[in-house]
Amino acid sequence: MIIKAEEKTLERLFQNHFIRNKKIKNRVAFPAMVCSKYREDGYVATENIEHYKQIAKGGVGLIIQEATCVSDIGRLSKTQLGIWDDGQINGLKQITNAVHSEGCAIVVQIHHAGVKSVDGVYDCPSNFIFNNPSTKTSVKGQEMSEERIKYVTQQFINAGKRAFEAGYDGIELHGAHAYLISQFLNTNVNKRTDRYGLQPELFAINILEGIRKETSEDFILGIRLGAFEPNLESSIKYAKNLEAHVNYLNISNGFYSLFQQSKPDDYPFEAHIYATEKIKQSVEIPVFAANNITSPQMAEDILVKTNADMVCIGRGILINNNWVNDAMAGRDTGRCLHCKMCERF
Ligand SMILES: Cc1cc2nc3c(=O)[nH]c(=O)nc-3n(C[C@H](O)[C@H](O)[C@H](O)COP(=O)(O)O)c2cc1C
Repeated sequence: MIIKAEEKTLERLFQNHFIRNKKIKNRVAFPAMVCSKYREDGYVATENIEHYKQIAKGGVGLIIQEATCVSDIGRLSKTQLGIWDDGQINGLKQITNAVHSEGCAIVVQIHHAGVKSVDGVYDCPSNFIFNNPSTKTSVKGQEMSEERIKYVTQQFINAGKRAFEAGYDGIELHGAHAYLISQFLNTNVNKRTDRYGLQPELFAINILEGIRKETSEDFILGIRLGAFEPNLESSIKYAKNLEAHVNYLNISNGFYSLFQQSKPDDYPFEAHIYATEKIKQSVEIPVFAANNITSPQMAEDILVKTNADMVCIGRGILINNNWVNDAMAGRDTGRCLHCKMCERF
């Protein structure tokens, strides 16, 4: 389908395509956005179901459900959604049913905060002082023993199994934004001398292999990776080493404050997009672009320039759930004013 907007065509944006064996109706994804502020037991509230139903109605091809914690002591906030208990499956099933009934695919982002946890347990690959820029506090990350790593690996695998039972089309491992997997990947944080230090992506690979065994061949396995973890060269290396284990890569921020971001001066988009283009050139699997994509035309231009397979529209869709339908109809999709209201959960 070819849609005209601002005198140009949005051809690639509205093409259907496949992730693993799942047909996705266009190239717009709603990325994981933690919005839940309803319950403290990790269970789904009716507001969560309604939230995702409305976003699916707005026309996106794929929803990546917000970071959903695999452990009740690894949460990023007290009201974070959870997938650590079988009792949570029923509520999650209501989200997948609501989204699928609108013709939209959905994966759930599974997550552990590690040293960024609000639960008083500061799991980290190495002893590490974490200065939290949001709360302006610092905590001491506790080096995980091999047994502890295996235990948390199993928590992720169990979460993947629950996601499969709840009807998700797949999972996305949260491997970015300074959370536990990002802590393993970033060699400024991970100073281990054992196999988890020598191969920083091993923790993620063990999780992915375990989930594949417990689910099906069709179940989508994705990972969100930092574009600079801590630099582009290491992120490209991780992308290549993870390629055999995942069905897509979603490129975002790494362990913030510890990354080295760069792009050529004349590159027309921001550094994450530049990194996405370079990563896409290094792998065969689908790659998603994200960060400050503020209009349908910009989304189309990024898809064309980088050859990325999907664009993530986060705050744009939060403020206008109907973003995709509006873009298809050539209507104004609105613009986030960066008021930060969405960050209060
Ligand atoms: C309120 C809020 C919550 C977020 N929650 C998550 C999350 O759960 N997982 C994640 O990977 N990224 C999360 N992000 C980052 C977004 O997925 C997205 O990458 C970021 O907002 C940039 O895209 P945008 O400019 O289109 O909004 C969050 C961002 C915001 C503003």
